[in-house]
Amino acid sequence: MSYMSIQEAMNKGSGEVKLHGWVYRERKSAKVAFVVLRDSTNIIQCVIKKDAVPEKVWDAAIDSPIETSLKITGEIKEDARAPTGFELAVTDMEKVGVSDTYPITKDQSTEFLLDQRHLWIRSRRLTAIMKVRSTVFGAIHKFFRERAFHEFAPPILTPNACEGGSTLFEVKYYDQKMYLTQSWQLYAEAAVFALEKLYCISPCFRAEKSKTSRHLSEFWMAEMEIAWAGLDDIGKAAEELVAFIAKEVIEKNAEELKILERDVEKLKKIKAPFPRLTYSEALKLLKEKKDLDVPWGKDLRTVEEDKLMELYETPVIVTHYPKETMAFYKPSDPNNPKEALCMDMLAPDGYGEIIGGSVRDTDLDSLKKALEKEGEKLERYEWYLDLRRYGSVPHSGFGLGVERVVAWMCGIDNIKDAIPFPRTMIRFRP
Ligand code: 4AD
Ligand code: MG
Repeated sequence: MSYMSIQEAMNKGSGEVKLHGWVYRERKSAKVAFVVLRDSTNIIQCVIKKDAVPEKVWDAAIDSPIETSLKITGEIKEDARAPTGFELAVTDMEKVGVSDTYPITKDQSTEFLLDQRHLWIRSRRLTAIMKVRSTVFGAIHKFFRERAFHEFAPPILTPNACEGGSTLFEVKYYDQKMYLTQSWQLYAEAAVFALEKLYCISPCFRAEKSKTSRHLSEFWMAEMEIAWAGLDDIGKAAEELVAFIAKEVIEKNAEELKILERDVEKLKKIKAPFPRLTYSEALKLLKEKKDLDVPWGKDLRTVEEDKLMELYETPVIVTHYPKETMAFYKPSDPNNPKEALCMDMLAPDGYGEIIGGSVRDTDLDSLKKALEKEGEKLERYEWYLDLRRYGSVPHSGFGLGVERVVAWMCGIDNIKDAIPFPRTMIRFRP
């Protein structure tokens, strides 16, 4: 008989099964021992009765501390009192890897758990989050591939800034300087003239000096770029993508959402289209409904975004931010040059900006001016400016912050738990 997962065994429901996994909890008395076994699929209570098993099995059972790995044979049956509704009456048990005294016990501090991350990722909570994360990745690939987008591989080491020089990570590159990518965008804009519709999910790096619950130094961005497309097109694609991710998570991760105690009703409300408003309209709402006075031209800070989102239960798309504060590649709206043709998607419940996107400026002169204003050396961007010299077409794209979306789907309060090994200004080990 071959091994099955705990979930498969529970689906079978009766008869003899062989399981392998790790000790999740254990408790023993003179005559009976309980081992809660976990594997990647679930947990199950196993009972070892001293009188019913060979001595070596009993000896193994009473000396298998938490996280010992085991192979177990037994009879499974339904038992309403057991933690997951089934119990295994053990007939044979073998230790595979003995565990030292496990350092993680109940009620430990967040910082201690981050120090022990290599072990803590085995917890049911982090396992559940990693499964949701896997669904989110799968959903993004599925969404774009079903719509005839091509997956494109951007370089991670780049000679240019994309989102401003202040958050660049410098890398010694032989005897030169390079940077870790902040966004695939400049390269996507090169490839858009070949592939027309492209996407990627890639790690991005930003030396964020803010220690917030929304910023990582290393995070993953799902980005897309389309030729012949404008602001409305990317707004539609963005809301459909986010609604699709939510639908997939609801469908595929019911168990995980239960473990995370996520209010699924909230996720069910994520249906496209989402409300749209301009930056100017957002300022008006903030003033009228939240008594917050933001002068036109200032970027919305976290507090203002949060206040605005108290008015909504679904994400919203905010467009037309002030051109002045925006990255060099975002063009002015021809109808109002003070506004940029750009959008952010903000999530409800304090999860903040989950998507940033824009039309791309195709005017050589205004691009050059904007780059110079950011203090960039034009010769470094000659290759990018070339893209405007050889048959340029209108094109637009966006980037979705994967960890912010995972955190939101899971309903967790810190982005650090949305990635297995978080990197922030002060946290980079293990
Ligand atoms: O708004 P951002 O900076 O947009 C860009 O980088 C564009 N070049 C994308 C594009 O148009 N292709 O970043 C996009 C998203 C943000 O909305 C946010 O969700 C996420 O990436 N993000 C971060 N997530 C975690 N930690 C950080 N430090 C992040 N910085 C941005
Ligand atoms: Mg942004």
